[in-house]
Formats: sequence, C-alpha cells, structure tokens
Amino acid sequence: MVGATAATIQPRLISSFVGNCCNTRSTHNLFRYNPGKRHVFMQQSRPFTGITNFLFNKRNTDELQNSTRKRLKPGKLSPRRPVPDHILKPPYVASKKPPGIASGPEVHDEMGIECMRASGKLAAQVLQYAGTLVKPGITTDAIDQEVHQMIIDNGAYPSPLGYGGFPKSVCTSVNECICHGIPDSRELEDGDIINIDVTVYLNGYHGDTSATFFCGDVDDEAKKLVQVTKESLDKAISICAPGVELNKIGKIINAHADEYRYGVVEQFVGHGVGRLFHSDPVILHYRNNERGRMMLNQTFTIEPMLTMGSIRPIMWDDDWTVVTEDGSLSAQFEHTILITENGAEILTQC
Ligand code: MF3
Ligand code: CO
Ligand code: CO
Repeated sequence: MVGATAATIQPRLISSFVGNCCNTRSTHNLFRYNPGKRHVFMQQSRPFTGITNFLFNKRNTDELQNSTRKRLKPGKLSPRRPVPDHILKPPYVASKKPPGIASGPEVHDEMGIECMRASGKLAAQVLQYAGTLVKPGITTDAIDQEVHQMIIDNGAYPSPLGYGGFPKSVCTSVNECICHGIPDSRELEDGDIINIDVTVYLNGYHGDTSATFFCGDVDDEAKKLVQVTKESLDKAISICAPGVELNKIGKIINAHADEYRYGVVEQFVGHGVGRLFHSDPVILHYRNNERGRMMLNQTFTIEPMLTMGSIRPIMWDDDWTVVTEDGSLSAQFEHTILITENGAEILTQC
C-alpha cells in the first residue's frame, strides 16, 4: 500500500488515546496504545523527560486552586438513542469487540476525496449548529439529542455512538475535561467552556472535527486559552504539505503553547481518518522526534488539547471522561485535513 512509510515507521494505535495515563482500571481502557509494539509514551514516566511541558511549562497550580469554579461531576445519562435501519453503520457498531488496531494511512483516490469532502462538510455543519445551542441552562444531553438528530436527518451515522461502547453521539467536554466527555444531565453554566467533538460517518467515510465554545460570560483567562489553542491548530495546518515531517506539527503547536505557558496534553493524539475512524498516522501535538512524512491525498486529524495547568489526565470511572488532574481548564480544536499538492485542505469547513 502507498502508506508503507508511515505504516511501518509510525506506531499503531487503537484510537486517539495513547496513554495508560489514568488512575483507574487501566485494563478497561479501550484507547490504550498497543504496548507490545514499541514506544513508551503511554507510560506515566515519559520517554521525553527534559522537554515536557509538564516539567517546565506549566503554571503554578495553586493559582488555579483559588478559582471559584466547581469541579465537574458526572450527571445522569439518558437512554441510548436509536438510529434508523436505513442509515449505514460503521462495522464497530455491530461488533462486540473494541475497535481493532488500525493499520496503514488513509490515502484516497478522487472518489474517496469527494466522500471525505462530503463527510467533512457535514461534520462542520453539525458542529456549527451545536455551537449555537451553547447557552447557560442547556444540558449536554440536549446537545447530544440535537446533534444525533441532525446527523441522522442528513443520512449519516454519529460515529461515537457505540464506538468501543461510547454511549452517546457526540463528545461534550466541559471546563477541565480534556476530551471524551459523555453528554449527560449537567446544565451548562455561565462562564463554562465546552468542547463539542462531532464525527459523522457518511457513505462509508468519517469526518471528525471539534471546537471549544463559550457559555455566556467567559473570563479573559479562559478566552485566551481557547484562542491560543485555536491558533495552534491553524499554525499546524499551515505547515502541512506532501513530504513534510509529521513531527513538525508537534513542534509548531508546542512552540505556540510555550509562548503562553500553556501545557500540551500528550496522551491523546490526532489520527488518520477516512474509512476508519482512527488509523495511521499518529499525530503528536507535542515536541517529538518521531519519523514519518505527510503523503499526497492523505487524510488525518490534528486536534491539540492545551491546558492552563497540569497536562496529566485522570479518567473517570465511566472509562471515557478525561479531566486534568488539577482541575485546570483544557481547550481543544480539531480539523480533518487532506494533504494536497500545495499544502492542506481543511475538509471540516462549512
Ligand atoms: N472524535 C474523537 C476524536 O477526535 C473520538 C471520540 S471517540 C468516542 O478522535 F468514542 F469517544 F466518541
Ligand atoms: Co479525532
Ligand atoms: Co474528534
């Protein structure tokens, strides 16, 4: 396959999670990096000691503990939402097994590219709509309901639903939640930030995108974090082109975060996306020396998570929700991009 370079050099993973980072029941973590292969970046003792944000770059967490914001708590889940029979479902939905290890990059022909454009566009439209719902008092479950309906109305399947047992159709990650927040009965509060991560499966192709939205009146510190996170994604996309080393992505994101003394979360990565939800290559958002280069007609995501304090993630007992260990805010943005002759096309745009 065309992807020999990336497929052999890049580590393989099951999903966008590569860390055995969390405090509980690690054997249940579906998103664990395959430890048999190589690499140790899932371990808490990091391979890149000496350059991590965690050691040198984080803010004084005491500052954050003075904050009046309440820590996030789990709410109640509504029953699983049905999907009509005529909607094409990804293979992992019917299977009892967790999504398998993806191999090889997503490199497309003309038809594949058109399909990726269509799923990317739908994901972007759904995300934009979801953002308009963000207001004090709305529950994340109500956002899930709306997202679920809009995706189905457009003939697509909400990729998260049933992915490795994920119970809802979208991820809603509020405040200190780094990613994979499960929509529930919690009402958004004035001053919250919320990342909404939409993935749709349309005509056999996934489009994956997320953004962090402001709920009501958000303080300037939080706004800055969100803005810088967005900028870091934009900067990373701007350097993408065929032949460019994948590690340039982590380099530019980490450099931008450093300027503001924000942390870059390491255990969650961008990924190839296309016919599979998560495949090669692994896209690290932090400074690294991994090998591998971008390929023409390849599609992958970039999805940096920046934090105001600690970058260490803690996973809740639900085996999905990931929060910062110190409760400091985390923001994320994500696009699915296509590597073109001249650079990169953002597929997840309206
Ligand atoms: N959309 C997420 C990503 O960016 C993955 C969510 S998987 C889920 O890769 F199961 F949590 F939905
Ligand atoms: Co993604
Ligand atoms: Co996503």
